[in-house]
Amino acid sequence: MEPFQYRDRQLYCEDVPVAELAARFGTPLYVYSQSAILETLNSLRSAFADVDPLVCYSVKANSNLGILKVMAEHGSGFDVVSGGELHRVKLAGGDPERIVFAGVGKTDDEIVAGLEAGVLMFNVESEGELEAIARVAAAMNRVAPIALRVNPDVDPRTHRYTSTGKKESKFGMDIERSLRVAEAALTMSSVRMIGMHMHIGSQITTTEPYAGAVAKGVEVIGRLRRMGHPIEWYNMGGGFGIAYKKSEARSIAEFAAAILPGVKAVGCRLAIEPGRVIAGNAGILVSRVLYTKQSGDKRFLIQDAAMNDLIRPALYESFHRIWPVVATPGLPAPPDDFEAAIPGTEPWDVVGPVCESGDFLAKDRFLPQLDRGDLIAIFSAGAYGMVMASNYNTRPRAAEVLVALRQSRLVRRRETYEDLVSQEIGM
Ligand code: LLP
Repeated sequence: MEPFQYRDRQLYCEDVPVAELAARFGTPLYVYSQSAILETLNSLRSAFADVDPLVCYSVKANSNLGILKVMAEHGSGFDVVSGGELHRVKLAGGDPERIVFAGVGKTDDEIVAGLEAGVLMFNVESEGELEAIARVAAAMNRVAPIALRVNPDVDPRTHRYTSTGKKESKFGMDIERSLRVAEAALTMSSVRMIGMHMHIGSQITTTEPYAGAVAKGVEVIGRLRRMGHPIEWYNMGGGFGIAYKKSEARSIAEFAAAILPGVKAVGCRLAIEPGRVIAGNAGILVSRVLYTKQSGDKRFLIQDAAMNDLIRPALYESFHRIWPVVATPGLPAPPDDFEAAIPGTEPWDVVGPVCESGDFLAKDRFLPQLDRGDLIAIFSAGAYGMVMASNYNTRPRAAEVLVALRQSRLVRRRETYEDLVSQEIGM
């Protein structure tokens, strides 16, 4: 199912016209398709069915409670990286036995919260963290289930800010160090190493990095077991890429084909921590044109979504498709790459109202004539969109709507000016 599609030139999310949602809830507005989210969750489960997979949705990609609740109701697990994310998953009714607690800098309080909740395992990122977990667990008279995060030193061939599995990154430990830490863990009675974790990066579009990482993981698991650790879980992390244009990422089935043989060979259960692949193309950001202006031969489309709503273009120069919510009669369909010139269009810089030159959503993008009041859709905005939004320029954060077939539900109201100052005290 295509969650966002044009019918009679009108963009729909499932069976609801996007323009109707914008009129009802205002703009900028995040719109998510529930069916798309659940469909990907199920595709992941079937693609990896041979190794009894536990899909731990990576909450950081989109942590809206409405989405987490729907996923929890459908039996999803969760990957959390902070006490705050753990709190959200508990509120949403997530099963603690399906939570992995990751993150390079867990505090003692967060470790306590994870142990109290009864999470499935902690992904351990350093020697110091192993000691902290062992100490906190001992003080609580508990045995903490853990997985060592091993950095396999493979190149995921993604943006440098979203690459995590090379040896120069801050994440995990190199293989030799991991094995030394695993030796030390044997003497700690308050931890039990039941898994090995790897996460090599995000928006990975090819399968080779996974195949390379798994080959190394298989060897490490063998060595950990020979040492005496009861490794039951291979946690492969997340990172499956999505199409921001048309088809630049391999399919879930292809990723599975690269990962499955190794996991089967070691006889582990597989945990994965996908975020973007579940939420990314299940959401759009809708905005309204405020002004158009020309400066020299440059055209600017000034609309009401800005870098504080969606920072990915400013931060990673990432590409998001943009197209009018109501397409003008006679306008040809956009090309697959959304970059080539289309008859009847002109190149525009799509910018927001924030006072920064980095405040753009697209540069030199071919778009049809748009005027004040027209709506545009910024696609592939469901992951790392709202979660990275800020109040910069004292702009209230957007509202979020979850659509299921003909129904739409406001899952986060738009912030008010009152919300924006409510934490500032002592005036
Ligand atoms: N597991 C771990 C340990 C992670 O660090 C991440 C993402 C994931 C899972 C989920 O990765 P995914 O399946 O979503 O690729 N803000 C960036 C992405 C940062 C990803 C951080 N870690 C962006 O907008 O592209």
